[in-house]
Amino acid sequence: MKYMGSKRSMLGNGLGELLAGVLPDKQRFVDLFCGSGAVSAHVAENMQIETAAFDLQQYAVTLAQSSLGKIHEIKSKDLWSRWVARAVEWIDEFDVFGDAVMLSNEAIVVNHKNAVAAVKRARIFCEDLPDKFVISRAYGGYYFSPLQALTIDALRASVPRGVSRTSAIAALIRSASRCSASPGHTAQPFSLTSTATPHLISAWKKDIAQHTQNEFKNACESFALVLGEANVADAVDATATLREGDLVFLDPPYSEVQYSRFYHVLEAIAQGYIGDVSGTGRYPAIEERPQSRFCRTTQSLEELDRLMIGVAASGAEAIVTFPADQASNGLSGILVEAISSQYFHIQKRKISSSFSTLGGNTRSRAARKQATELLLHLTPR
Ligand SMILES: C[S@@+](CC[C@H](N)C(=O)[O-])C[C@H]1O[C@@H](n2cnc3c(N)ncnc32)[C@H](O)[C@@H]1O
Repeated sequence: MKYMGSKRSMLGNGLGELLAGVLPDKQRFVDLFCGSGAVSAHVAENMQIETAAFDLQQYAVTLAQSSLGKIHEIKSKDLWSRWVARAVEWIDEFDVFGDAVMLSNEAIVVNHKNAVAAVKRARIFCEDLPDKFVISRAYGGYYFSPLQALTIDALRASVPRGVSRTSAIAALIRSASRCSASPGHTAQPFSLTSTATPHLISAWKKDIAQHTQNEFKNACESFALVLGEANVADAVDATATLREGDLVFLDPPYSEVQYSRFYHVLEAIAQGYIGDVSGTGRYPAIEERPQSRFCRTTQSLEELDRLMIGVAASGAEAIVTFPADQASNGLSGILVEAISSQYFHIQKRKISSSFSTLGGNTRSRAARKQATELLLHLTPR
């Protein structure tokens, strides 16, 4: 899954090695900004250590929990068949499926004018659906074709109960992220210009049920070696739960744009709920989008200081990563290093490359650009 600031590529490029060197004598790994869950899942699935993860956003916690929260593989085949059967039963209560298929197919045409007209009809159809069609009403005709949106709603309303529930919701989040008609994140769907419409239509052609089945299989197959847990919490508040013997991974935001602006579609799927939406991105109201002080240029420095004091007070060790260059939220590798060194000894300092700066630093907002990341191993003073 493409995720702004994901450290997946860094795991094979310095971070994985550092974790493998530091973790053996620790009691717990704690990821305070888990995001895509790539780092917590890597540790939980490969190392004999309890892993805890936190994030402000529910979708991030769901992604992490789907591997941290179970210690056995789940056989997904029958669960998937029963999940689909319940979803079909759910949708059959409404007489809308045939129209959704027809409207989705009408948009898949080469002629730009006809495609735009069909997309507009799809939007009206989706907005008029009953309230139970949470995702379709908010995002159908924009990020998803009517057929894709109805499929998400039907699957979300019918997720299995029990231990596979989190894996099922995680699978839907991942498949929605893969199929969404938007560039890399869900801040805005592709527009209806002649250059962008083909991208929208190409995304609308994706088989979201097939993607969900694949993601569900993967999620069911991944498990932690030691049972862990992921929770929604503010990272600074979560420092109160830390203890000596923990290795804390700190990968705070570097963008002045809130993550909740980029990922509200995934949050709505995780929550199974979204209020009224507005604007080109179909955003929910600001009160429904978690706001991080790390993404505010006037508060980010103070927040980083509070975070470092919280971790240091617990006696835990930490690994912190941050772009070496000036970031758009006002922080930089130099500032992160200076604040860290007030409370910690810097045991190791590495520079690593990553390829994910979506919405990133002040120099370029290009979707994929090589960025240089500072990587510090901190031990208490
Ligand atoms: C740079 S990303 C982390 C990426 C993650 N390490 C990965 O590999 O995918 C920063 C994350 O911090 C979360 N976040 C922002 N402010 C936070 C806060 N105050 N407390 C907890 N999480 C926060 C965001 O929702 C986002 O998922």
